[in-house]
Amino acid sequence: MKLISRYTMMLLTFVVLLTTAVPVALASGTTDNSSSKKLVLGTSADFAPYEFHKVIDGKDEIVGFDIEIAKEIAKDLGAELVIEDMGFDGLLPALQSGRVDLVISGMTPTDERKQSIDFSDTYYKSKQVIMVRNVDKDKYPTMAELENAKIGVQKGSIQETIGQKIPGAKLTALDKISDIVLQLQTKRIDAAIVEDTVAAGYLDDIIGLAAAVPDEEQAEAAVGIRKGNTELLSAVNGTLERLKSEDKINQMVTDASLLMAGKVDKNIFEIFWEYKSFYATGVGYTLLLSALGVIFGVIIGLIICLFRLHDVAILRWIGTAYVEVIRGTPMLVQLMIIYYGFSLSFGINFTALQAGIITLSINSGAYLAEIFRAGIQGVDRGQLEAARSLGMGRGAAMRYIILPQAFKAVLPAIGNEFITIIKESSIISVIGMVDIMYQASVVKNITYQGLNPFLIAAAIYFVLTFILSKLLGRLERKLSASDRR
Ligand code: ARG
Repeated sequence: MKLISRYTMMLLTFVVLLTTAVPVALASGTTDNSSSKKLVLGTSADFAPYEFHKVIDGKDEIVGFDIEIAKEIAKDLGAELVIEDMGFDGLLPALQSGRVDLVISGMTPTDERKQSIDFSDTYYKSKQVIMVRNVDKDKYPTMAELENAKIGVQKGSIQETIGQKIPGAKLTALDKISDIVLQLQTKRIDAAIVEDTVAAGYLDDIIGLAAAVPDEEQAEAAVGIRKGNTELLSAVNGTLERLKSEDKINQMVTDASLLMAGKVDKNIFEIFWEYKSFYATGVGYTLLLSALGVIFGVIIGLIICLFRLHDVAILRWIGTAYVEVIRGTPMLVQLMIIYYGFSLSFGINFTALQAGIITLSINSGAYLAEIFRAGIQGVDRGQLEAARSLGMGRGAAMRYIILPQAFKAVLPAIGNEFITIIKESSIISVIGMVDIMYQASVVKNITYQGLNPFLIAAAIYFVLTFILSKLLGRLERKLSASDRR
């Protein structure tokens, strides 16, 4: 009894340490923008010429006239500008939770948005247009013909609201403008609602403009700032006023339009070669994420497994509940809770990397716990009885007799879990983790190609998992050879 309770105490302390210390240790890496002179800009860099990706001297950079404005604001504040690129509909939560200090993303100051954030004076005005395939141009002379059409819009944008007002229209709301254009090219949608300045960059022999949207839907753009941050608000307005008086903004728009990427027609090998550094970075992060995910996952899995096999009922219950809940909910949902939920509700701001590692560990912990349990229960009961009859305590029998055999038996299953994690880690790209999957999307956005960037990603994932499974096969053979000695 004494032994058990000591064990229980040790386990509990360990779990408490792990669940509190690890996140805190990981979280200490987050940027604290109040003390250091950093200005974190949130933007959705899919909106040329406002903000977009462009390879300059072999490096991916975010450029555009919004970015130039942000640089001027940072300069006036004497701060260093840091850019966070994310989906347009992630910008408001990012600003509210303090993940970014300001949002410049061609964002229109609507009444609805004004309820959750503040806006600067407006700095730009644009019209709404309808993009269609050139062959369909005459089908849509006015907005009225869009009734019942399949229409693409950006998720969370005012274009989505305009689309919702069209009777019978089937809306496809996507994260990135480039995705919408791809959908239009591939005939998944009939039309897309976008701003004229942005549409200009996509017009070619396939895509053209149809009906004009009535003028009352004109959209202005302003800088979004967290409610109550009046100091930043007046600083931003000051900079905007200066830029307007120097007639700089028009100049910036012209410059950015010139910078806008021409379309590139390259084959898969050329794309791979040109963007190899992107993919290399992606591989680094994918491996880092997966390795740490497995390591912490093994630790969590062992603890949960011991809980599940414990004599104390409440621990058994906790172990079972953990496994059932984690296995019974999608990893994407868990990721959203850890990344956005913790930040909005408890003020714990994990970086994308931290949130990714935590999600993967928690998740694989549940699966590994089951693998370990199967391993331990698979060891013949007689082994335990024999050990006990030789005078070994329960703990010692576990450590020296059961666990080594169990471990060997479950090694292939652990290997499979590692391979699964490498693939599953691609989910973390949705929060902006620069893994292989994320880099593939970036390359897609730059090259306007929908297939090749992902084929390259698939090949890379395959090579990684294939090498890993060969290595694991070797290790297994080694271990079983040592058995036969
Ligand atoms: N002006 C529109 C809005 O506020 C669209 C802005 C989209 N911006 C972007 N960076 N994708 O809803």
